[in-house]
Amino acid sequence: MNRIKIAPSILAADPVQLGEELRKIEDAGADYVHVDVMDGHFVPNLAYSPDIVKGLRTVSKLPFDVHLMIEEPKKYIETFVKAGADIITVHEEVTENYAEMADFIHSFGVKAGISVKPNTPIERLENDFDKFDLILIMTVEPGFGGQSYIESMNEKIRKTRALIDESGKNIELEIDGGVTVENISEAVKCGADVIVAGSTVFKADDVNAVIAEMRENAK
Ligand code: DX5
Ligand code: ZN
Repeated sequence: MNRIKIAPSILAADPVQLGEELRKIEDAGADYVHVDVMDGHFVPNLAYSPDIVKGLRTVSKLPFDVHLMIEEPKKYIETFVKAGADIITVHEEVTENYAEMADFIHSFGVKAGISVKPNTPIERLENDFDKFDLILIMTVEPGFGGQSYIESMNEKIRKTRALIDESGKNIELEIDGGVTVENISEAVKCGADVIVAGSTVFKADDVNAVIAEMRENAK
């Protein structure tokens, strides 16, 4: 297993000190900044606009992993790329043609990801998952931070890992929601290699220590 990537979700960061929070995770060796975008339709919550992403871009060198939980992602992809996104992930549930979506995202020069909600079977992606650079398995219902990890998603992670390995392609397998220093171990054993963590990272007293502990437990 390669070294896992840690992608702290700024949904759980202190909104009054976002710049400082980003510096903290960069110093602690985070790999990506996970930015949740919510439109109040696809999920019952609202989060980060392109302007915020643009502002944050000036204080961080980390890749921005932008998770679009919105109904009409195509309308906003270019705007988020211009604001500084490095990876754009859209949801399967609002994507009709996977290959076309992947091409569309790639046409802006960034990596493309596709995400599945807990009740969306990974089999839906079977024929076209390899058009993407990243597959994001939601391990909670999207919309809010601080929820509990859905243990039954471990089986989905395992299946997805098998698909990726069979394809022989370099596709990242990201999980998002409810990851803790305790349950990270099993998720990584099942095959996850990019770990989003909001509350676990940002609500910790010592961000350096918690990221180190996550890495240790993922070995
Ligand atoms: C949920 C978001 C997650 C969320 C994770 O819809 O996609 O990225 O911020 O937060 P935690 O790690 O607190 O569950
Ligand atoms: Zn997310």
